[in-house]
Amino acid sequence: MNIDHVATIRNARGGDHPDPVRAAEIVASVGGDGITAHLREDRRHIRDDDLKRIQEATDLPLNLEMAATEEMLEIALRHSPHAACIVPEKREERTTEGGLDAAGLHNTLAPIVWKLADNGIRVSLFIEAEERQLEAASRLNAAVVEFHTGEYAHAGLDGDEDRIERERERIARMAKLAVEMKIEPHAGHGLTYENVQPIAAIPELAELNIGHYLVGEAVFVGLETAVRRMRDLMDEAR
Ligand code: PXP
Repeated sequence: MNIDHVATIRNARGGDHPDPVRAAEIVASVGGDGITAHLREDRRHIRDDDLKRIQEATDLPLNLEMAATEEMLEIALRHSPHAACIVPEKREERTTEGGLDAAGLHNTLAPIVWKLADNGIRVSLFIEAEERQLEAASRLNAAVVEFHTGEYAHAGLDGDEDRIERERERIARMAKLAVEMKIEPHAGHGLTYENVQPIAAIPELAELNIGHYLVGEAVFVGLETAVRRMRDLMDEAR
C-alpha cells in the first residue's frame, strides 16, 4: 500500500494526525506485503522523518518512490529502503501523471540507478508499458519496472471497454516481455476495487502499488477493512 495520502490529510492541518506510521502498522497487521511512500521535493505528503519512523514501526519492506535527484539519492542511501522506485516528478502536477522516460534520460538515471543498486537497494523504474522503455530499463540494469496503469484506469472511468482491454493487453504483453528480460514487473496507479482484478490476474506481475483509492475508501469503512477487501480481490484474481 502507498500511504502517501494519509500524510496528505495530516499535512492539511500541519499536525501529527492522521499518522502514516499508524497506517503502515495497520497494513502490516492485515496482510499487506509492503509499504510504499513518495518523498516529494515539496514534501506534500510524507516528510523526511516519516521514513525512519515507518522503518522502525514495521518489518514490511519499504519501497521509496523518489525523483532522480542528488537530494533524493542521498536520502535513499541514508535510509536504505528495501527498494527505490524512480518516478518522474513535476512540482505542478497533481500526481505522478505518466511514466519515466527511461530511454531519454539514460545518462541522468544511470549513475543514480547504479549507486542505489551498489548499496543493496532494489531499483525499480516507473515506466509506461512500452517496449522502448523496457529496453531502456534493461540497459540500466534495473531489477524491477513498475508499469503506470493510469491509461488503463482512465479508460475505465470513460467506460470505454475496447480501450480498457487494449490497455490491459498492453500491460500483460509488456509484463511477459519484462520477465523474458529478467526484470520483475510491477504495476500501479489509479487501481480500485472495480478495476484491480484484470491487472491482478496478469500472472507475471509480482506487485501492485495502490494508494489513493484505499485511503479514500478508508474514510468510509476504515483502513483495515479497505486493505483486506483489496487484498481479497487481488488474491481471488490470481
Ligand atoms: N506507484 C507509483 C510509482 C506511484 O507514483 C503511485 C502514486 O502516484 C502509485 C503507485 C499509487 O497510485 P494511486 O495512489 O493512484 O493508487
